[in-house]
Amino acid sequence: MNALNFNQKWILVTGASSGLGYEMAQQLARKYKANLIVAARRADKLNQLKTELEQQAGVQVKVVVADLSVPEDIDRLLQESLNGQQLYGAILNAGVTFFGPHADMPAGDFERLLQTNVVSVVRLTTELVKHFEQPGREGGIMVVSSMAALFPVPYQAVYSGTKAFIMSFVNALALEITNPQLSLTVYAPGGIATEMTEGEKFNDLKGWLMPVAQAAHEGLDALQQRKYNHVPGALNRIGGAFMKLMPKKFIVGQLGKTYRKSLAKLQESK
Ligand SMILES: NC(=O)c1ccc[n+]([C@@H]2O[C@H](COP(=O)([O-])OP(=O)(O)OC[C@H]3O[C@@H](n4cnc5c(N)ncnc54)[C@H](OP(=O)(O)O)[C@@H]3O)[C@@H](O)[C@H]2O)c1
Repeated sequence: MNALNFNQKWILVTGASSGLGYEMAQQLARKYKANLIVAARRADKLNQLKTELEQQAGVQVKVVVADLSVPEDIDRLLQESLNGQQLYGAILNAGVTFFGPHADMPAGDFERLLQTNVVSVVRLTTELVKHFEQPGREGGIMVVSSMAALFPVPYQAVYSGTKAFIMSFVNALALEITNPQLSLTVYAPGGIATEMTEGEKFNDLKGWLMPVAQAAHEGLDALQQRKYNHVPGALNRIGGAFMKLMPKKFIVGQLGKTYRKSLAKLQESK
């Protein structure tokens, strides 16, 4: 299977208004000269990204303002992505978390998190795979999971569950694909410095975060090389391999201790 060539191809990036998705959109346009379909809820950020990339990188950018926790918005995003241009790639990156004791999760947040992180990913992947399975089509789909799928994180219990779901789903589906020119990739970063981790709850954990430019670069490389699963950062990969040798309860307990300390410090400072 050839590596993907993004040059002048159309790539969908969800969650492109900030963080990893924004940075992947920037690199896809500036470095690879890809045309983009960018989706998220914040229209102002997406329109600003469109103006900047069209003027500075000479690519075309289509904006789709969509709330992926809403089924009708998912349908509209699919319509916009599959009509009007030939789609070559999709990065399903949009995601949300809740960080804190599970019992404190506000009512309604569980459903919203599940809709955004799981339901939208399954629905988009299902339709995109149908599109790419048609004769003569070529491309790649990458779903952004997390290392939390491999080692679930206490105080982000629902988030960890959603990321494990999409990893299992895509890893299994990847081996049902019949088109040899289509690949499905799962990208599973550890912590990244983005809006998701900028709150003071994460103060104690900030030293561990990967710069977003590096996470975006490794993600695009994983998609391009049609990797099955990819964890960015040598330290994350070595640490992950080592952690797999230890009892899961011990590792998850250690993660829990770190997060508990971070939350406790925040309580004390209030
Ligand atoms: N940061 C980390 O430590 C880390 C680690 C591993 C994996 N990840 C994963 O990386 C992905 C990107 O996260 P990030 O770190 O870049 O966080 P971020 O800066 O908060 O970006 C999240 C993106 O998702 C979009 N989004 C959230 N809810 C949405 C909804 N209902 N509909 C449409 N778009 C929505 C946001 O846009 P709007 O608010 O404009 O809608 C934003 O563009 C997520 O899937 C996350 O789970 C992050």
